[in-house]
Amino acid sequence: MNDYSRIFLGTAFTSQSKTEIQILKDYLFCIDENGMIQNVVAPEEKLYTTLIYEYKGKDNFYRLPEGQYILPGFVDLHIHAPQWAQSGTALDLPLYEWLHTYTFPLESKFHDLAFAREVYNDLVTTLLANGTTTALYFATVHKEASFLLAEICAQKGQRGLVGKVVADDPEQNPDYYRDLDAKTALVETEEFILDVKKLAKSTKQGVYPVVTPRFIPSCSDEALQGLGELAAKHNTHVQSHCSESDWEHGYVKERFHKNDAFALQDFGLLREKSVMAHCNYLEDKDVDLFAQTGTAIGHCPLSNAYFANGVIPISRFHSKGVDIGLGTDISAGATPSLYDNAKQAVVSSRMLEDGVDTSLPPEKRGVAGSRITINEAFYLATAGGGESLSLPVGRLEKNYAWDVQIVDTQAKGNRLPIFDEKEELYDVFQKMMYHVKPVNIREVWVQGEKVHSN
Ligand code: GUN
Ligand code: FE
Repeated sequence: MNDYSRIFLGTAFTSQSKTEIQILKDYLFCIDENGMIQNVVAPEEKLYTTLIYEYKGKDNFYRLPEGQYILPGFVDLHIHAPQWAQSGTALDLPLYEWLHTYTFPLESKFHDLAFAREVYNDLVTTLLANGTTTALYFATVHKEASFLLAEICAQKGQRGLVGKVVADDPEQNPDYYRDLDAKTALVETEEFILDVKKLAKSTKQGVYPVVTPRFIPSCSDEALQGLGELAAKHNTHVQSHCSESDWEHGYVKERFHKNDAFALQDFGLLREKSVMAHCNYLEDKDVDLFAQTGTAIGHCPLSNAYFANGVIPISRFHSKGVDIGLGTDISAGATPSLYDNAKQAVVSSRMLEDGVDTSLPPEKRGVAGSRITINEAFYLATAGGGESLSLPVGRLEKNYAWDVQIVDTQAKGNRLPIFDEKEELYDVFQKMMYHVKPVNIREVWVQGEKVHSN
């Protein structure tokens, strides 16, 4: 007698490698009481018939209807939760101006917990409806509102990794929106870490505190140093922005006479559980340092198109062994959907490869070897995100969490263009990556629990 908490029967897609998709046609997925995948059983296995015989007709046996498929839940590796309130505005400004004119004034409002609650509730619900089961969030400098975001993730069942933002330098941050000083920022960060670790104990899926210097320009040396020490002391994740734009990259070079990567390393901020957003301007030695330290990259293709003044060479970085995942970077990227960002990752990589200046002859445009495929973009949104966070998510394999989205290709309102009953499953997969909208996402599960249905 087998004793699984739930069994799902359906066709699923998961990454086999960075470039290949594994198609699991009519497989059984056996989930234990902790919400982990305990067994993945193929139709040709003897156990398959036994399990179906045992579980069929029980209310913990789910057979997916025709036209519905299982995908791993997406991992959003970089998102600013407060900026949901300005998503879709002011995308035409340069980064520095955008931060000072729009973003800091907005984020300063999150001392108001009622406002924070409204925005954060809506955002977490929206992300789940878009298939995002894990998110690595920047909150704001406010400790209480940052904790509220962690509580909302805990309550809605999302795997939230949340950072109280640190920005203490009075030269670089406005007086109305910054930490009082480095010491206060560090004390509050440590309190935040302990509070979230305590909260995590009451959740099944886990919520995690993240050490979060906004980026080097917003922090004093003392704050950066202290944050590196706190990350080591409490073994937390770390996140920041790294080598994002011409302006930011140039600022760090001027202050430290080195690139962001080495400056962050000096402060102890490059660790196995570090995720750095953007990283468009990494040089080879920076990439090697990322690989050595286990630091991952949160690739934000839509945001980069607006604010980065360049395109990240994903293929080159992958070839050096760095973990890379995908981020929406709300609100520098104006969509909560990692489907949209996966598509953009492909488009941006092709523009980098082919070049954009048609006044040049073809051989003088572009950077050879830059293209990525939709399979690689899917990998970034799923397994790559899980690896970046050192969490067992993003794959449909034994000992991974049951974090999935159930996609209905026949949903009313957005029926996918599938007209042949015998359509190749790989083509169905590609169509899903290009066409799925929230109406198609019937159910979302995190750690074996249903957290969204429509
Ligand atoms: N650099 C520092 N803060 C931010 C932010 O909020 N968004 C982006 N894209 N870059 C940043
Ligand atoms: Fe960002």
